[in-house]
Amino acid sequence: MAKSLDQRFGPIVVEDSDDIGSNDSTNTPFLEVSGMRTGRRDLLKGLLGTTTALGAAFAAGAAGSVLRPSDAAAQGASTLTFTQPRHVILDSHQVAPGYDVDLLIRWGDKVMPDAPAFDPKNLTGAAQEKQFGYNCDYIGYLPLPHGSDSSEHGLLGINHEYTAPELMFADWFQAGADGKLKERGTTAEETKVEMAAHGHTVIEVRKENGRWSVVDGSPYARRITMDTACRISGPAAGHPRMRTNADPDGTTVHGVLNNCAGGKTPWGTVLISEENFNGYFGGGDPDSSPQAKHYKRYGISAESRYWWHETADRFDLGKEPNESNRFGWMTEYDPYDAASVPVKRTALGRFKHEGATSILNKDGRVVLYSGDDERFDYLYRFVTKGTYDPDDRAANRDLLDEGTLSVAKFDDDGTVRWLPLVHGQGPLTPANGFESQAEVLIETRRAADLLGATPMDRPEDVEPNPVNGRVYVMCTNNTRRKGSQVDAVNPRPENRHGQIVELIPPGGAGREADHAAETFRWDHVLLAGNPASEKDKAAYHPATDVWLSSPDNCAFDPQGRLWISTDQGEAQAKNGIPDGMYACDLEGPGRALVKFFFGCPAGAEMCGPEFTPDGKTLFLAVQHPAEGENSTLANPLTRWPDFQPGMPPRPSVVVVTKQDGGPVGS
Ligand code: FEO
Ligand code: CA
Ligand code: CA
Repeated sequence: MAKSLDQRFGPIVVEDSDDIGSNDSTNTPFLEVSGMRTGRRDLLKGLLGTTTALGAAFAAGAAGSVLRPSDAAAQGASTLTFTQPRHVILDSHQVAPGYDVDLLIRWGDKVMPDAPAFDPKNLTGAAQEKQFGYNCDYIGYLPLPHGSDSSEHGLLGINHEYTAPELMFADWFQAGADGKLKERGTTAEETKVEMAAHGHTVIEVRKENGRWSVVDGSPYARRITMDTACRISGPAAGHPRMRTNADPDGTTVHGVLNNCAGGKTPWGTVLISEENFNGYFGGGDPDSSPQAKHYKRYGISAESRYWWHETADRFDLGKEPNESNRFGWMTEYDPYDAASVPVKRTALGRFKHEGATSILNKDGRVVLYSGDDERFDYLYRFVTKGTYDPDDRAANRDLLDEGTLSVAKFDDDGTVRWLPLVHGQGPLTPANGFESQAEVLIETRRAADLLGATPMDRPEDVEPNPVNGRVYVMCTNNTRRKGSQVDAVNPRPENRHGQIVELIPPGGAGREADHAAETFRWDHVLLAGNPASEKDKAAYHPATDVWLSSPDNCAFDPQGRLWISTDQGEAQAKNGIPDGMYACDLEGPGRALVKFFFGCPAGAEMCGPEFTPDGKTLFLAVQHPAEGENSTLANPLTRWPDFQPGMPPRPSVVVVTKQDGGPVGS
């Protein structure tokens, strides 16, 4: 356990972006420059007017990272009572005073009872399969026993999104024939390590004497890796485009890929997303394939980000042109049964799913929201056909196989319409290459293009708030949006910092909200960015004295307040502020009054915020500490969290609790 880690300053250069922006569909109706929609224009002007005044105070601070003195009276509008830590990038994490941060599990730590000890100089696929994977992202807390609301004993389902070979393997950059440093590529064994470091982990955790720990030898402990057999279900199961040499039936695929955020269902299963799956496939000649246009829309090309296709045939597009069609889905599994087979639910569509979060609608149907995290891609909703049965868990087993997938079209007048992606309706016909619902789902993006969905500024987490019944969309950024492409919901060109959009279903607040309705209203919570920069055109509550960039994931505490995690990627160094946790009220006079709560170590992004039901514990995932230009295993930006010579930086899950034992945030 590491409670008080050293805090040291270090040079910061960060680079990472999977986002390739592959929506160049010409038939997508970008709106003309329209300014803010009616009603918002004045409010935003008002906010901007105030934040411009804030700007002078920001500008007075060194490197744009020192806060102006808080206006205590104005800050009093917030129900969040904590004092903000310094808003600067450090080698280590930091948190608001009065809170503890405990390390729960790190890359390489034991998950399975027979896992060997972490040996960073001798990584093997066999060891990694039993150890905690790399780059932890989504965290889902599920109480034990199932059906209880225990906040002191439960399971954590944790995603492992991707691997960073330069921080895992020695001598990653080597001189090429031209003398320039190049990535050397992975060996066959290193590829096995990477495959085993992806996927998902289940651990059992318990709080005793105020401190959380992993239960050793738990029957629930599990790793899901690229070796794990998953069933394919729903309309696309068995379709010819889902068949491969290894799986002529098109119903079984091994592994889940690039698992970013996720979600839970009312019946206590976990949803694993597949985000940037395209980067694992390469080789062949995809440009002259019958699927060439389809590959392009999903960013699949002969150039792979990884080297997997050199040792595993199924990732070689020349050898298995359909294997990539079997990724990009949402996968459901039962964390309460370590032997359960994960199921890819094709009815939820295929795109770069950031995650999928659910809410029980008042009519008993289950509604899921999911963002396609790419510049100019879309926001989706799925409504089950059947209804949830709270008295028979097994009866809900295949609820996610039938229902209606829709895509969002935002209008400047403040309405958002959900357009159904149903084969045979509108343009989704054989004339446009859709022979069945299976093809609509395999090519969800193209179907949504044809319907005229609204291209968004990279929609990441989309989460329904169970307290107020509204839905929150983290649009992380979109530097490619031109002035001619702005609309009311994506109002800024060259959007470097993102915005948070609020969706308002009809029917009333909380449980009364009708998440299955055809039309919602929408609003902005905030426009992220630095108020000191006129160019940013940021907008927060005027008493906000801190700023954030690139909202990625979110969570709600039991009071329904919004907790925002950020991922600036390559912009972290340029912005000069850490990624971490920020929070604000959504109701009352403190709405959009943002406060900074937790800072990640250098190079890391913040993921997976998850509260226990009592709100007294906040689980956080620190992903890719030390990632950045020229940061390598031999000379990383930081050696968080161990700070030991020879120990690599290690993506980890940490636990935040309040020292007085009270709820986090208040
Ligand atoms: Fe994996 Fe959208 O962040
Ligand atoms: Ca994310
Ligand atoms: Ca991210």
